[in-house]
Amino acid sequence: MSRVSYVNGRYYPHKEVNVHVEDRGYQFADGVYEVILVKNRLLVDEIPHFDRLERSLEAIEIACPMKRQALKMVLEEVIDRNKFKDGLVYIQITRGVARRDHGFPKTSKPTLVITARPLKIADKSTENKGAKVITLPDIRWKRCDIKSVSLLPNVLGKQAARTAGAQEAWQYDEEGFITEGTSTNAWILDHHDNLITRYLDQAILSGVTRLTVINLAENEGIKVVERPFSIDDVKNCKEAFFTSSTSFLTPVTQIDDTVIGDGSPGEFTKKLLLSYMNYINERPQNELMR
Ligand code: PDD
Repeated sequence: MSRVSYVNGRYYPHKEVNVHVEDRGYQFADGVYEVILVKNRLLVDEIPHFDRLERSLEAIEIACPMKRQALKMVLEEVIDRNKFKDGLVYIQITRGVARRDHGFPKTSKPTLVITARPLKIADKSTENKGAKVITLPDIRWKRCDIKSVSLLPNVLGKQAARTAGAQEAWQYDEEGFITEGTSTNAWILDHHDNLITRYLDQAILSGVTRLTVINLAENEGIKVVERPFSIDDVKNCKEAFFTSSTSFLTPVTQIDDTVIGDGSPGEFTKKLLLSYMNYINERPQNELMR
């Protein structure tokens, strides 16, 4: 399959696409991004993704280069040209190209890049054996609610996990509470069957999958509690998992040296993963656009 990407109004073969070396995304990580799941050629949860993109842009004072409906059309064109059924689209918007100077340039046009790639949904099935997670101090900035392209701590954390033979690193704050994974939100189920995930504040990203899973869990009568939880809470929990648009809902079976439950994916986790799979397959075709 030959990939096609979009930059500032034009579609290019992915191999030939590029942005200028003085783009502020490259120079200063001065930009934001979104990752949206595509299932059966349709965007999953596009409204909360667009909402979050607009919030991120507003927080760093970049004007959105196009209206929602136009952006949606470009995304659909990229999906079409890439010819996959299931995949991911990446939207990246930076402050644009300008002579290097930390302050905002007086005149610069935002750079809009859209790339796409296929994703094997079968890999996310309930057959998933579960993942090992390590814990690390959260060394990120104080605005993790902004989906910034400045991801160095996340990159280092993910690599530390890989080096330790784990799939994800759960970061903890100065009080020892888990914030989130390097590219995922963190969840546990306690022994009273309360599903716990940290509340939204500036310490974590408001995950779109997180929101969907909260709704799915509540529809199934599972009590969801949004509060911080500690590493000890994880070590003593019944089940754990992490969520994101790329990993869906991945069972956690080990944290550092502690095995969770009997070391296999928990029943609630598997049930919720199944609900999520049904949700992405059966969503109404056209979600309302604002
Ligand atoms: N990551 N927390 C962080 C730090 C993330 O980077 C992500 C997403 C999430 C989950 O958000 P969502 O459910 O909306 O995907 C939580 C994307 C997938 C990425 O960087 O590739």
